[in-house]
This record gives sequence, C-alpha cells and structure tokens, in this order.
Amino acid sequence: MSQEFTEYVKTAFGPKSTPKTRRVLGSLIQHIHDFTRENHITVDEWMWGVNFINRIGQMSDEKRNEGILVSDVIGLEALVDTITHASDAKGHTSSAIIGPFYRDNSPVYPNGASIIQKEVGGEKTLVSGKVTDTKGQPLKGAKIEVWHCAPNGLYEQQDPEQPEYNLRGTFYADDEGNYSFVGLRPTAYPIPYDGPAGDLLQLMDRHPMRPGHIHWRVSHPEFHTLITQIYDSECKYAKDDSVFAVKEDIIVNFNPVEDNSPLKAKGIQNTLDYDIILVLEEEIRKTRQKVEDQHAAVEKTLTARLDSVNV
Ligand code: BEZ
Ligand code: FE
Repeated sequence: MSQEFTEYVKTAFGPKSTPKTRRVLGSLIQHIHDFTRENHITVDEWMWGVNFINRIGQMSDEKRNEGILVSDVIGLEALVDTITHASDAKGHTSSAIIGPFYRDNSPVYPNGASIIQKEVGGEKTLVSGKVTDTKGQPLKGAKIEVWHCAPNGLYEQQDPEQPEYNLRGTFYADDEGNYSFVGLRPTAYPIPYDGPAGDLLQLMDRHPMRPGHIHWRVSHPEFHTLITQIYDSECKYAKDDSVFAVKEDIIVNFNPVEDNSPLKAKGIQNTLDYDIILVLEEEIRKTRQKVEDQHAAVEKTLTARLDSVNV
C-alpha cells in the first residue's frame, strides 16, 4: 500500500487529540509504515515482532526492566540521553543513561562511610570530590546517590547472596561541597541476556559486556538533577560498550594507593577524585524552551493541514 494509505491513517485523528499527539504519533506511523514497506514485512515477520514485544512485557517486573534493556542494545537510551541534553549549556558534568538498576531510598551514610555491607571481593576504593555550580561555588547539601554492581557482575537486587541495598548509598555534600565514600573499583559485567535483549545481541553477533562503571544521581534544589556514570579508563570495554553509553569526558582514572599510605592499612587499594558540576534548572529550561518552540511551530502547521483535510 502506498503513501496515500499512510496519509489516510495519519489524518484519522479525532478533534480531541492534542497537536503534540498528532505530530509525534503521525511521525511514528510514517516511520513504521516506511520501514514495513522498505523491508517487505510479511504476516509471519510481523507476528514475530508482536511476540517479541509481548515477551518484553512478560519478562519485566519490579526487578527487571526488559524494555530498557532492549532499548539499550539498539543504542536507543544513549541516543535519547544525547538528544535530551543536546541543547543544554556546556560547562557542567555530562549525563549518561540511568540503566535498569536504580533504586530509590538507598541508605543515607555519613561522608567517608562504606557502601560495602558484605564482603564480596574486589578492590576497595575511596571516592571523593566536590559538588559545585558552573561558577565553582560549592553546593552544600547536594544529594549524591551512587550504585554499582558486585565483582560477580550482579547488582544486589539480582543476587540473593547480597543484602538489600548492598553497594548503594546516599551522601550529602558538606559545607564546602565535599563528599566521600568507600566502594569497590567497578568491574565489567554482562547486561542480562537471557531474554529478548539477549536474543537481539545474538542475532547481531555481539557481546553483552558493559565497562566497569559507577552510577550517580546528584541533585540539589534549583539545580538540574544529574544522572551519570563514570567509566574506568583501564577497562577494555570502555571502548566497546554493549549499550553505547560511554562519553569521553566521564572516563576516569583510578589511582593505586601507595604501600606506605595510611589508606592501605585500612584496606583501601585505590582512590578516585571526582568533582561534579551541576547546572541551574532555569538554565536548562531556557535552552529547552527553544526546542519546544520549534516543535510548537511544526504542530501549528500540522494542525492547520489536518483541519483542512477533515472539514
Ligand atoms: C547499567 O548500567 O546498569 C545498565 C545499562 C544498560 C543496560 C543494562 C545495565
Ligand atoms: Fe550499571
């Protein structure tokens, strides 16, 4: 069926649909129809796709988000992250994907405390730094949530051997914006590949590995919440991430602790200095408004066109 049919479907919106719905769903219908025609999709292939989508839902629950995993292996979450932040002012810490393993309400610890609730191996690492605004002013009270997996490659919610909230914690920056915590030098791990996301990797003949990384969510009133990760520069997957999420400026160096350092006596093997720069929400709002305005102009034209078709 031709573009004429696609146009007919795209104009079949009722008067109560919003201009944004018409623009976004209209575009989705156009792309899906084009894809279907270009690839000559048959009934059997379409049914394969329907079953694939159904399996994504069936495999998902509060501990597993297969929708995010499938998005990730085709680079969609990384693309959305980049698009979301494309118009943002520069000069603050880069964002990265959140991934499927964030949990709210991780235990609050004092600065310097360890997020290791149970010995699971790995190299103990002291992570410390300062949270500031883009002018270098310390952000007292910034909330810093961190999480990473154990050396067996599993986050605590995937692993019955780990206590709840192991290797996760919430810290608050002190009067000078400083924070610190003890965690593990992160290890590379495979994303879960026993479901639809794994099927896609197999079809594409790709590995499931992510580089060693620590996740961060950093927030402060009036500032834009930063969701990011840091990547170990010495991990070979930093250049070959299965979910395409690595950005150059969030690759970091872990420093080995000297033998004569007092940290060594406490079992700390590495340090990582990591400063974080947040940007005002108002700054983000201003630049994103320009993008919204461009969309509104497209929606106005589209609405006028659809109204003239539907009279
Ligand atoms: C993660 O970083 O935890 C992650 C990201 C994408 C897919 C799976 C895991
Ligand atoms: Fe992760």
